[in-house]
Amino acid sequence: MSEGPVGRVPPGIRWLEPGHRVRNRATGGCPGPAGTGAGGQTGPVTITLHAPASPAAPELVLRPWRAEDADALVDVYRDPVLRQWTTVPVSSHAEARRWLADVREGWDSGHRCTFAVLEPLPDGDRLVANVVVKRLAPGREHAEVGYWTAAAARGRGIAPRALEAVTRWAFDRFAAAGLTRLDLLHQVDNPASCRVAEKTGYRFQEVLPARPPFPRDGHRHARWAGSPA
Ligand SMILES: CC(C)(COP(=O)(O)OP(=O)(O)OC[C@H]1O[C@@H](n2cnc3c(N)ncnc32)[C@H](O)[C@@H]1OP(=O)(O)O)[C@@H](O)C(=O)NCCC(=O)NCCS
Repeated sequence: MSEGPVGRVPPGIRWLEPGHRVRNRATGGCPGPAGTGAGGQTGPVTITLHAPASPAAPELVLRPWRAEDADALVDVYRDPVLRQWTTVPVSSHAEARRWLADVREGWDSGHRCTFAVLEPLPDGDRLVANVVVKRLAPGREHAEVGYWTAAAARGRGIAPRALEAVTRWAFDRFAAAGLTRLDLLHQVDNPASCRVAEKTGYRFQEVLPARPPFPRDGHRHARWAGSPA
């Protein structure tokens, strides 16, 4: 099944097909054939993205979150800095399961695509970050990105590299659905997030008034399809 142009997408269409597989080496790679799991079947989304190695970190692998990530998720959420900047708390395995179910629902609907970012280590992959594209909808020209990096992995450029891979993928994957702009929002007193925006080509646009649950004003940065990092 192919995706129709803007305005001709039937309501309820699964515009992200279960079984759809994408390989993107963050060098402008393009999606594989859509619809390999067509016919309304349900099943895991098997998208895999790659962010190339840097002097500070090996190649990163990005893929949709899985149920078995619950333990790692609970561990990462013990960090008070992460909890300060995220809206949904994860303090227990029950909350981790709810978080992962919500993420899965986002993939199933195609409105929110959330990637676990893994760093391959000799003793197995380590969860190092999360990147999401949210507020996606057929015919909607803009969506929003979000991210965090596990405390132990910060300061090695992981968030910018993972965000770059997801940004390229999203502009490519949702071009036919009308996506042309991605917004990145952070509170004014989060300079680390502002640096991620700058390093990934998300240019500052405006100051936004505080929006609950975040008590302070924010920055909106944006990147357009076709614009470089
Ligand atoms: C913002 C965040 C995602 C950056 O991730 P990262 O993978 O560390 O990204 P970078 O390595 O590019 O570092 C970005 C900035 O963080 C700061 N930083 C550097 N080392 C750091 C460390 N060890 N710990 C915390 N911040 C550090 C620096 O200001 C850096 O900018 P610089 O490269 O110009 O010096 C991460 O700090 C984080 O997860 N914070 C909590 C959640 C959050 O704020 N999410 C964004 C909400 S809008």
